[in-house]
Amino acid sequence: MNPKHDKQLLAQFQQLRKVLSYHSQRYYVLDDPEIPDIEYDKLFRQLETLESQYPELATLDSPTQRVGGQVLTGFQQVTHQLPMLSLSNAFSTDEIKEFSQRIDERLSHEHFKLVAEPKLDGLAISMRYEDGLLTQAATRGDGTTGEDVTFNVRTIQSIPLHLSGTSYPKIIEVRGEIFMPRSGFKQLNQAQAARGEKTFANPRNAAAGSLRQLDSKIAASRPLDMFCYGIGIVVQEHADNPMKTHHSDILNQLKQWGLPICPEVKTVNSWHDCINYYDDILERRSKLPYEIDGVVYKIDNLTQQQKVGFISRAPRWAIAHKFPAEEAMTRLLNIDVQVGRTGALTPVARLEAVFVGGVTVTNATLHNQDEIDRKDVRIGDTVIVRRAGDVIPEVVKPVLSERPDNAQAFIMPTHCPICHSLAERVNDEAKSRCTGGIFCPAQRKEAIKHFASRKAMDIDGLGNKLVEQMVDAEMIHNISDLFSLTIKQVSAMERMGEKSAVNLIQAIDVSKSTTLVRFIYSLGIREVGEATALALANFYRFLPAIQSAKAEELIDVPDVGPIVAHNIETFFAQEHNVEVIRSLLDSGIHWPEIIKKEVHQLPLADKVIVLTGSLSEMNRNDAKARLIDMGAKVSSSVSKKTDLLIAGEKAGSKLKKAEQLGIEIMDEAGMLQLFNQYNVS
Ligand code: IVH
Repeated sequence: MNPKHDKQLLAQFQQLRKVLSYHSQRYYVLDDPEIPDIEYDKLFRQLETLESQYPELATLDSPTQRVGGQVLTGFQQVTHQLPMLSLSNAFSTDEIKEFSQRIDERLSHEHFKLVAEPKLDGLAISMRYEDGLLTQAATRGDGTTGEDVTFNVRTIQSIPLHLSGTSYPKIIEVRGEIFMPRSGFKQLNQAQAARGEKTFANPRNAAAGSLRQLDSKIAASRPLDMFCYGIGIVVQEHADNPMKTHHSDILNQLKQWGLPICPEVKTVNSWHDCINYYDDILERRSKLPYEIDGVVYKIDNLTQQQKVGFISRAPRWAIAHKFPAEEAMTRLLNIDVQVGRTGALTPVARLEAVFVGGVTVTNATLHNQDEIDRKDVRIGDTVIVRRAGDVIPEVVKPVLSERPDNAQAFIMPTHCPICHSLAERVNDEAKSRCTGGIFCPAQRKEAIKHFASRKAMDIDGLGNKLVEQMVDAEMIHNISDLFSLTIKQVSAMERMGEKSAVNLIQAIDVSKSTTLVRFIYSLGIREVGEATALALANFYRFLPAIQSAKAEELIDVPDVGPIVAHNIETFFAQEHNVEVIRSLLDSGIHWPEIIKKEVHQLPLADKVIVLTGSLSEMNRNDAKARLIDMGAKVSSSVSKKTDLLIAGEKAGSKLKKAEQLGIEIMDEAGMLQLFNQYNVS
């Protein structure tokens, strides 16, 4: 090979590597790809071909290294030059206040800022970069000695194989957490199950199992991700570019070098701010794309960190504020069968009270007979109960080693426990259903409870107990009967004073002014939740159009599949449902569309509107519902066809795009004004 050719070739290699790293960073770290996947694949294959022709020119930071291939017989031990510490845990606001007071004393009341970060639920990793090149990655191990998992870490797409820019130190250890995002975990488990292989109990176990694969090709196929939260050893060659003096600046610097940093990191001023941060993240926990088990607070200023110091193996300048455990152990006392709104029979576990996920739990769902059989749960067992976020508590599994001799298997009854009609399992459904329909008081009660609930007609003061009492007393038989209740009737009920009765009748009256979305949702059509109700209203705009739609048209509505389409058609085909709807409308239930009759008379007739960012005054679905009632079509993406973008707080890419396209933009206040102008009640 002549030297000139060689130089050209080297340049080609370098250019390809650079371009691929750039695009992979845009895709995996910034979530903002610039070129289509197929173009990326083309470039990638070009580099692969070149490397197979000239293997001596392949480098360790080549993007082709990410596909794995090395098979090890075991992991080498790595001694951490700076030990990897752990964190002290706190579980209450008081403990956080005390943490802050301890720091305050040690800093002689000097002002200090804190950095609040999610506590990621994965595995700690230390990655060594020498001259910008990722040379070693090791697990935490016992904090002093870990395992060398470099080959596997190189397959994680969001981790740069070479740092960006030029200002990085000669040697730097970057520390963070490797985790498996929820979506990847779900997919992995589905694929494992389909292949008849073992599934993982949770994303953390899946991440750990993947990182400890001896075959890096397997690790490469696993959807691992990583966020950096600190640094270890730093060796500078020149004194002209010292490391930053604050933790928050270090994280920003790491980000500039192309390393992934959690977007939820925030600098705060006091322990009060820490608690607000904790509450906010706890509320959003289940919506985050990855699992976290708490938050971490760290002093921002490194000099102050040093002053405050350590207690044995944990820093005094940081603390983990843990979320309440989501799993606990208790005894399964009995299994009852509940009848749902659509007749579904659900076995419910009656449990010895246990504190889990921040509340005391006495009931948990067992879903259906197949689930009970699969989990092999028996009455009398000690069981693991899980309550994650607002999700209904569930029985995860029995603790077999604690099973008593008299533990009893559960068998689903053949008849409805309430109306004694036959219970059937149709069309391979997992659930048995009571065939009693509207004759089953349990189904009627559930339908009325659903109708009155917050997300449906939102009838203030009409709680579950009251509905049950009213149905039992035969004061009401269906949802439309609610609107002919009188103060006299209601106040005659047990534990119901005159004032509460007046309030209830008033609340029923107020609920009559609603939106089409709420109305459809409140009807309780099987599998038509809030999102489907919204999609139906957005598509058809008018109730009669929805009522008369056939299943084959309904499947054109976004998110409506053949089963839901069939459910909707069947619901509206039943005479008693048509009757109830007529009676509801006669009693005065209304939304703007009903008053205006013609869509072109509506103020936003045929306007395509996109909602983005977060709203503070109004629930997003309600805002959409109001817009639909005013004649708008609500869309989820911005395009040339968009007429108006309503941008709440923290609006991102959609706002940018709308600005670029010169689309009219309105803030939340503007939207509320619009609603007020068009006050129809
Ligand atoms: S800082 C000196 N920050 O929690 C402080 N750790 O018990 C060292 N973790 O093993 C850790 N998210 O794996 C820190 N934002 C975060 C974290 C975090 C998760 C893990 C880490 C460590 C354990 C501490």
